[in-house]
Amino acid sequence: MLSNIALALTLSSLAVAAPGPITKRWTESSANCRTFYADVEASTDSNLDLASVLGGPPANQQVLVQSTVDQFTVGSTIMAQISNASKIDVEGTYSLWFEYCEPKQGAPKGIFQTHHGLVGNAGYWNVLLDGRTDNSFAESAAAAGWATLSYDRLGVGRSAKPDGTNVVQISFEAAQSVAISQMLREGSLHDLGSFDTIVGVGHSYGSNLLTGVASTAPDAFDALVLTGFTANSTNGPLGLFAFQSTIASVAYPARFSADANDYVITPSVSNDQTGFFHFGSYPNYTQSALDKFTTTKGEYTLGQQNSIAGPLALDRSNFTKPVFVVTGENDAPFCAANCYVTSLGDGQTQLDTARDLYPSVSNFSTYVVAASGHGINFHTTAYEAYQQIINFVSAQGL
Ligand SMILES: *[C@@H]1O[C@H](CO)[C@@H](O)[C@H](O)[C@H]1NC(C)=O
Ligand SMILES: *[C@@H]1O[C@H](CO)[C@@H](O)[C@H](O)[C@H]1NC(C)=O
Ligand SMILES: *[C@@H]1O[C@H](CO)[C@@H](O)[C@H](O)[C@H]1NC(C)=O
Ligand SMILES: *[C@@H]1O[C@H](CO)[C@@H](O)[C@H](O)[C@H]1NC(C)=O
Ligand SMILES: *[C@@H]1O[C@H](CO)[C@@H](O)[C@H](O)[C@H]1NC(C)=O
Repeated sequence: MLSNIALALTLSSLAVAAPGPITKRWTESSANCRTFYADVEASTDSNLDLASVLGGPPANQQVLVQSTVDQFTVGSTIMAQISNASKIDVEGTYSLWFEYCEPKQGAPKGIFQTHHGLVGNAGYWNVLLDGRTDNSFAESAAAAGWATLSYDRLGVGRSAKPDGTNVVQISFEAAQSVAISQMLREGSLHDLGSFDTIVGVGHSYGSNLLTGVASTAPDAFDALVLTGFTANSTNGPLGLFAFQSTIASVAYPARFSADANDYVITPSVSNDQTGFFHFGSYPNYTQSALDKFTTTKGEYTLGQQNSIAGPLALDRSNFTKPVFVVTGENDAPFCAANCYVTSLGDGQTQLDTARDLYPSVSNFSTYVVAASGHGINFHTTAYEAYQQIINFVSAQGL
């Protein structure tokens, strides 16, 4: 009931709020972008046998909802069974869809290899909104002399969609990320040439994924930028549960009819607002940002959803490169919507919970993005967050 009142208040203020001022920083784009498909070969011995716990793809939506209830039923051992599941080997060569952007002028200083989160896709890093380039990470990077490589992660959008329970999981995807960075260093990815400086950038699940890479391949990246991330992911109503994972072909049949039933998605714009946006004294995002998020979002698999926490348990003592954590002040799934509430004390925030994951790094820094939710790149604060990322990387001598 309380939440119905809150929702009604939110909707009525949506109707009366004046749109915030919009700054058009650039009339022209700084980046030349192109897209391509490439095959990526990878292997892992660390996927989980989730099929033994969850069964195969749910027969229908009712079965999926009941299995979600079962996971959260008091006394349920399903979470314990997931973390206890046997490890399985997965290897294979899969086609992934890439977008590469480079500065219009001059050779790039280096490249950002990006990893989007659940409900996202490659487009998260090149958000072109309201006739501006301010929300595009790739544009900010290009304006500062950097190239950006983004891809639809395995199972998402235009990339291959194998077994969504036992193959499309975070450990196999971490191995693919390492393979892609090696191809960039060797100059064997499409026609991109070779790169000596590669910074791994993640959002949400993509940041968890890079936290795995830092353990298994500590030299794959020269620095890590982990956005929408803490080591204190939210339990309860503002956590992953709020995504209300729904069979993608049921939620949006026109877009996802070809997906198997273990491919899921958030079912409504209100779930997307809850999980990814922040509406404070003002909406620090435009209505078109929320609409664009919902109409362009990507599916994810039950394998991804249930393997996301795996990398946090690994040992990263061999990883020494700088780490920058950048998270919205009001991030719901990683800060329960207020990153300043923490038991750490001493002027720290929940972002500092990630410090213990990286005991040997040369520099660990954090930046709280003011008045923003989990989907930073869709907020009016995105441009400032990108400048912080670029300044951090330059200050590390990259
Ligand atoms: C949020 O939006 C309001 C209205 O546009 C603006 O005054 C305020 O500065 C914004 N906050 C941030 C942190 O950008
Ligand atoms: C974890 O695995 C061990 C060994 O297979 C088993 O004995 C134990 O019951 C499992 N625990 C849970 C919670 O599934
Ligand atoms: C760290 O590196 C050393 C030397 O290469 C290796 O023996 C050790 O297994 C690595 N530790 C981890 C946790 O990967
Ligand atoms: C983790 O988040 C909870 C809210 O979900 C908060 O109460 C707690 O203080 C946080 N822990 C740390 C170490 O910041
Ligand atoms: C880490 O790098 C930042 C630059 O972004 C710098 O301000 C800070 O002093 C560095 N911290 C340490 C401990 O070197």
